[in-house]
Amino acid sequence: MTSWTDDKQPLRITCGKGIAPFLRAETEALGFKVTDESGGGVETEGTLEDALSLNLHLRTALRVLWQVGRFDVDDPKRLYAQVTALPWEDWIDPGGYVCVNSFTQTACIRDTRFAGLTIKDAIVDRLQKVHGRRPDSGSDTNRSVVFLYWRERDARVYLDTSGDSLSRRGYRKEPMKAPLQETLAAAVVKATGWTGTGAFVNPMCGSGTLAIEAALMASNRAPGLLRDNFGFMHILGFPKERWAALRAGAQQAITPWPAEPLIVATDLDPRAVEAARRNAENAGVTAGIAFGECDFADSPMPACGGVVVLNPGYGDRLGTVPELEPLYGRIGDFFKQRGQGYTGFVFTGNPDLAKRVGLRSNQKIPFFNSEIECRLLGYRLYAGTIRAKWNKGEPG
Ligand SMILES: C[S@@+](CC[C@H](N)C(=O)[O-])C[C@H]1O[C@@H](n2cnc3c(N)ncnc32)[C@H](O)[C@@H]1O
Repeated sequence: MTSWTDDKQPLRITCGKGIAPFLRAETEALGFKVTDESGGGVETEGTLEDALSLNLHLRTALRVLWQVGRFDVDDPKRLYAQVTALPWEDWIDPGGYVCVNSFTQTACIRDTRFAGLTIKDAIVDRLQKVHGRRPDSGSDTNRSVVFLYWRERDARVYLDTSGDSLSRRGYRKEPMKAPLQETLAAAVVKATGWTGTGAFVNPMCGSGTLAIEAALMASNRAPGLLRDNFGFMHILGFPKERWAALRAGAQQAITPWPAEPLIVATDLDPRAVEAARRNAENAGVTAGIAFGECDFADSPMPACGGVVVLNPGYGDRLGTVPELEPLYGRIGDFFKQRGQGYTGFVFTGNPDLAKRVGLRSNQKIPFFNSEIECRLLGYRLYAGTIRAKWNKGEPG
């Protein structure tokens, strides 16, 4: 029987393209040694119980995968033989449900869908042999989830301890137009360097993702507290009491809001402001954010200084390039006129529009929004004092 506290295995933590350096920093801050970092994630080692805290605390991860087998195979039959030899009866309820997801980049198999089917057959055949019963299977990720990574001859099989992607925090019931994925927004907030000292101003907030992720971070709210279902809950032997204790610890670690909210979220569109407010309510962070309906250039800018982050449309899903050019020009004016004491940031997927800001950026941090290559451009604005510190009782 697998021990949740003693059996260590490689843990692969996946993330969106461009986010791995932020995920690495987060993973290391939780006390895990990162042994590999690649475009799609980081590798560490740990027990199934370690996977509980990673799922609870990581803000930039998509999935936490616990490796159960790694094989050098060149055809599906050999893979089937190796995977049926694994003790699936230790992990999967024969009366339950299993979903197999896969990433395959190998010449060993012609139809990549067949790779996932091979794994599914191996699991259910093994359980049939051991228990005389087989679980149902399908594409739902809300119960047991298994992941296959197969590149060239290197096949790795994992229990997906997250199940549904961790970017689905559960708070965004109203996505509005072109929302940033929650995990990408968390990485963007980290990339601005904002740590709760000073204000976080987010004009053009849309559904509020950047402001909400900033508020979750500033109040030390573990993102996993917002979800009530994870893949690990469906692995046999799930230690309910340990999970309850981890959750209770994370609840206790939440810090109180300052007297004045230092996070500002505004948008020209009243429906966006309403959606952002409701999403923040779902996330439990409305008290930390001051909302407002206005043109970005009129956003309240707390006198303490801090960071101001804008994510305008970039001619893909929102508006055409000629329509957006004057808007980007006005962002430069706004930074010059009202940015005293702030570092300005623009998150955009269109370098030509970015040039319209008309200021020299001193930071260009690469990201991807889905498949669109984007940049977070940082502008050092005028010097000023950043005095207000989150939770130090000296706001504003
Ligand atoms: C790409 S969306 C922002 C998405 C947001 N980051 C999210 O995660 O939901 C751009 C937003 O800019 C807003 N906007 C466009 N022009 C504006 C202006 N002049 N002043 C303020 N907001 C504006 C739009 O209403 C839209 O909500």
